[in-house]
Amino acid sequence: MEIKEQLAKIVAEAKSAAEGIKTPAELGDLKAAFLGKKSEFNTMMQQMKDLTPEERPAFGGIINAAKSEVTAFFDSAKERLDKEAVDAKLKQETIDISLPGRQMYVGAKHLISQVIEEIEDLFVGMGYTVEEGPEIESDKYNFEMLNFPKMHPARDMQDSFYISEDNLLRTHTSPVQIRTMLKAGGNKPIKVICPGKTYRKDDDDMTHSHQFAQIEALVVDENTSLADLKGTLLVLARKMFGEEREIRLRPSFFPFTEPSVEVDVSCHKCGGAGCSMCKGTGWIEILGAGMVNNNVLEACGYDSSRYQGFAFGMGVERVAILKYGIDDIRAFYTNDLRFNRQFR
Ligand code: FA5
Repeated sequence: MEIKEQLAKIVAEAKSAAEGIKTPAELGDLKAAFLGKKSEFNTMMQQMKDLTPEERPAFGGIINAAKSEVTAFFDSAKERLDKEAVDAKLKQETIDISLPGRQMYVGAKHLISQVIEEIEDLFVGMGYTVEEGPEIESDKYNFEMLNFPKMHPARDMQDSFYISEDNLLRTHTSPVQIRTMLKAGGNKPIKVICPGKTYRKDDDDMTHSHQFAQIEALVVDENTSLADLKGTLLVLARKMFGEEREIRLRPSFFPFTEPSVEVDVSCHKCGGAGCSMCKGTGWIEILGAGMVNNNVLEACGYDSSRYQGFAFGMGVERVAILKYGIDDIRAFYTNDLRFNRQFR
């Protein structure tokens, strides 16, 4: 076959092959077959050595022209493949803006968190800082250093979940008092509140939960008195339950405070006249408090002839129950959204 015909046939074959390419791998194979070392072009080029020097340029020229044509077919096949790949990717990533949107529900803080934050804000405004402690606590901090010796009957006041001989789920936030005093090293004034979860082996009912939140307050300084405690509690009661509230202190007992008191606030529902909320007494109990027992101060390195302190601990759920007229503490923990949504 005449060389020109032979080249025209190769070019035609390459054109139809290039047009049918579907993948980059096919492109690679065909390019190698038509333009590579074993291609017909290469074989033809090797025939140059049998030609005279005068014939060679024309012969080389027509082969190179055919080669350029074939190269151009594969280049445009590559361009087509690249474009197809981009188109496919774009198609895959298309967002169908005609779809209706998914409804986003806006959450809200749980009422217990809201009450904790409200109380934190009040105390931070009075110069207190916020301290936290672990929920798994040692018997030493939860009881012993708070003046509850082992086997002391006062331990029965707080029925406990022990997880080992020496560790338990803390029954109150008072161990944070111990941690704070030890950290202060026995020679610095302290003004902290300590919010957190607490646990007791109480049977769940309308006013008791086996897990509940407390907020502890501890002030240690020189010249701290029961009058300071009473003034602070009055500010707290009025902030949480209204400016007309009064408080009263009744004698009580906690091993870690002396004297100890239970604190009642005048009923915000009836104003003190007596109603179902205050069980006819005009007063509602909100927390336990007292002057820090000298034994506790001394165990934490404070000289009790120089330093005194006051402390109190309140149940957050009980404060929320009173403030918002909730009739069952279990409502805080059963995750009924209808309940939670009322307090957005
Ligand atoms: C204490 O826990 C003392 N640590 C409080 C304290 C601190 C006194 C500092 C003196 C100085 P008490 O056991 O009374 O005290 O508990 C305090 C509050 O926690 C109670 O008034 C109540 O509001 C709440 N509380 C106790 N047990 C439960 C329970 N099972 N469920 C919900 N709230 C509870």
